[in-house]
Amino acid sequence: MDQFKSKVAPADGKLAVLLPGMGAVATTFIAGVEAVKAGLGKPIGSLTQMAHVRLGKRSEKRWAMIKDLVPLASLDDLVFGGWDPIPDDAYTAATKAKVLSPEHLKELEPALSRIKPMPAVFDKNVVKRLEGSNVKKGTKRELASQLIQDIRGFMDKNKCSRAVMVWCASTEAYQEPGPEHQSIAAFEKALDADHPNIYPSQLYAYAAIMSGVPYLNGAPNMSCDFPALVELAEKRGVAIAGKDFKTGQTLMKTIIAPGLKARMLGMEGWFSTNILGNRDGEVLDDPANFKTKEVSKLSVLEQILEPDRYPELYSNLQHKVSIHYYKPRGDNKEGWDNIDIVGWMGYPMQIKVNFLCRDSILAAPIVLDLALFGDLAARAGMKGIQEWLSFYFKSPQHAASVYPEHDLFVQKVRLENNLRYLVGEELINYLGSDYTNE
Ligand SMILES: NC(=O)c1ccc[n+]([C@@H]2O[C@H](COP(=O)([O-])OP(=O)(O)OC[C@H]3O[C@@H](n4cnc5c(N)ncnc54)[C@H](O)[C@@H]3O)[C@@H](O)[C@H]2O)c1
Repeated sequence: MDQFKSKVAPADGKLAVLLPGMGAVATTFIAGVEAVKAGLGKPIGSLTQMAHVRLGKRSEKRWAMIKDLVPLASLDDLVFGGWDPIPDDAYTAATKAKVLSPEHLKELEPALSRIKPMPAVFDKNVVKRLEGSNVKKGTKRELASQLIQDIRGFMDKNKCSRAVMVWCASTEAYQEPGPEHQSIAAFEKALDADHPNIYPSQLYAYAAIMSGVPYLNGAPNMSCDFPALVELAEKRGVAIAGKDFKTGQTLMKTIIAPGLKARMLGMEGWFSTNILGNRDGEVLDDPANFKTKEVSKLSVLEQILEPDRYPELYSNLQHKVSIHYYKPRGDNKEGWDNIDIVGWMGYPMQIKVNFLCRDSILAAPIVLDLALFGDLAARAGMKGIQEWLSFYFKSPQHAASVYPEHDLFVQKVRLENNLRYLVGEELINYLGSDYTNE
């Protein structure tokens, strides 16, 4: 096993974790890592910190923790930085986000208040509900160069040997790829022409890829999900993945729907609604920004249920999703799902799910895992779209030749097999014939 392990470069030195957007999710993530380091909390929800993977045949009874199986950066080696148009340091931003209690935050204040956002590349036309003073100036080409300098400057200042970027900033207005997104040459020409279709998240992704830094996209923004940046990532040997952290309602959907489909139960409707009152909810209250999120959330059921293959079961399915900004709830989102299912002889049944979740508490461990796995991919020489990280995304970025995989359990098998593969362990196919034929 060790001979294969050596194929992945070791996680020596410090890892810069660069976060465009230092709001609720980013600060809950940073605070959580600091709390774990100080023995004040547990990294619940993080596979890299808590999960075991089975190795070899079932009869071998061999398991390893993911963090022992593959060489991952240790939490002590992470150095946090980021950008935000709002100049609050991470302690102030976390206090305003009201995800963690004031008592909890007070204990973490020294570590959090040191982290101050760099001036952001921000465009109010793309996120209308936000105002910010901590913003860079320049043409798109100049802004991209400034981000590249920020990355280098941050790594030098903090003596980091590697970096990874996880987008934790707001959801941008909906956008379809245009001609300027189709090739590296067209994209760079659009940069030089200061083209309005190049949105800020694309500049961060471009800067990361040009700097050899893996880019993981936690919002549904197009960001790096278009031919030009996919081509650039492959050409420069950089890992990318997205889109949109799979946390509350969509996580439930990708747990429940594969189960119902596996038992060949039909479905006529899935009605999902949410109320939330954080800044993310405020941004999504703008129809252009909600459209980006809606497209991301709607794609899930279609792929899991395959209505074309099973028209008797799923062709009449009505899938509706709405999000309502309701201030009193803050980050504590409430989601309702009504699922109209159909059983034997066409008899209807209903399932109701009422999920009282905490958005950023669910998202924070995903940010950690993506940062550590993104860095692992870089050290393993993996480039382009990292589909094995689909497990973490609502709308997984995928190669043009295949459909995205949404089923959480298929995604988990893929992720674990990828880890086994990296260290030369046998891939598990669950055939089990070696036990039954003994
Ligand atoms: N929490 C979840 O469960 C969850 C799930 C999936 C996706 N997301 C996405 O994660 C992102 C962050 O969510 P949040 O709850 O932390 O939101 P938030 O509003 O608290 O934080 C986002 C931050 O990004 C900043 N920002 C906006 N545009 C920026 C830019 N161009 N550059 C740098 N910073 C910028 C904002 O000022 C804000 O501080 C959102 O896009 C959200 O849709 C969250």
